[in-house]
Amino acid sequence: MNYRHAFHAGNFADCVKHALLVWLLRALHRKPAPFAVLDTHAGIGRYDLSAPEAGRTGEWRAGIGRLLDIDAGPLADTVALARAAGAPAAYPGSPALVRALLRPGDRLLCCELHPEDHAALRALFRGDAQVAVHHRDGWEALRALTPFPERRGLVLVDPPFEQDGEFARLAAGIALVAHRFRAAVQACWYPIKHRAPVRDFHAALRGSGVRDLVAAELWLREPTDPQRLNGCGVLIANPPYRFEAEAGTILAALLDRLGGREPGEGWTMTRIAEE
Ligand SMILES: C[S@@+](CC[C@H](N)C(=O)[O-])C[C@H]1O[C@@H](n2cnc3c(N)ncnc32)[C@H](O)[C@@H]1O
Repeated sequence: MNYRHAFHAGNFADCVKHALLVWLLRALHRKPAPFAVLDTHAGIGRYDLSAPEAGRTGEWRAGIGRLLDIDAGPLADTVALARAAGAPAAYPGSPALVRALLRPGDRLLCCELHPEDHAALRALFRGDAQVAVHHRDGWEALRALTPFPERRGLVLVDPPFEQDGEFARLAAGIALVAHRFRAAVQACWYPIKHRAPVRDFHAALRGSGVRDLVAAELWLREPTDPQRLNGCGVLIANPPYRFEAEAGTILAALLDRLGGREPGEGWTMTRIAEE
């Protein structure tokens, strides 16, 4: 396990993932019944942007660093949460964002396999009865920890994509959860380096028979260099009402702030499978 999210926290891809995550959590608030969130690849939960790791890449400056003055429009909610978590001194990872949006009675389950990152995450939530931190394989947790007793909630799958076969694992994981826990909303992050693996991923999902899938994607340049993170996507299974329209305004606003530097940028909202 070489990947450490501390080098990348707050970059453009985090901004895409987290702005969509915040919208999905607000959608879960529409009903009073309690929900749970499973974050299968959770990271350390909160990132010090003055630490050497963040400083070495400086990626956050081209991500959350370009959004912090926003106080209206489709990104305002996410930016306010980031500021409340300490931005620009610190940046909230997915567990901190989810925790900020739990109501009394809602729960967060986190899995993190890296021993040091797991220890940091556990320390962050020590004594918090609404959060459980597991030192376990997030892929295995998809089977072990679903369905939730609450019978509603969100499964966030955000793997590091450092091993071959992660797209196939992700497609299989989406099908597994859709089968075991039909009511779950799933949000699954993936990289866009070049188009071929993404096309194959979408094709695998279409072939899986899983219903009601949408892909939200944003790229900062033509995705032709397979060595670079040119863009990213979030595959949503079982998207809440109005997701496509409202998430489209989020992607457009993100591209407006984060793009504009290289040719070939864009975003799409693609229905992969009908309801
Ligand atoms: C992209 S980062 C997660 C970022 C986090 N979701 C966020 O948005 O703040 C991926 C994390 O998954 C962890 N990881 C890698 N393989 C794992 C596995 N099989 N199960 C659980 N965690 C894993 C890595 O150590 C890393 O912290």
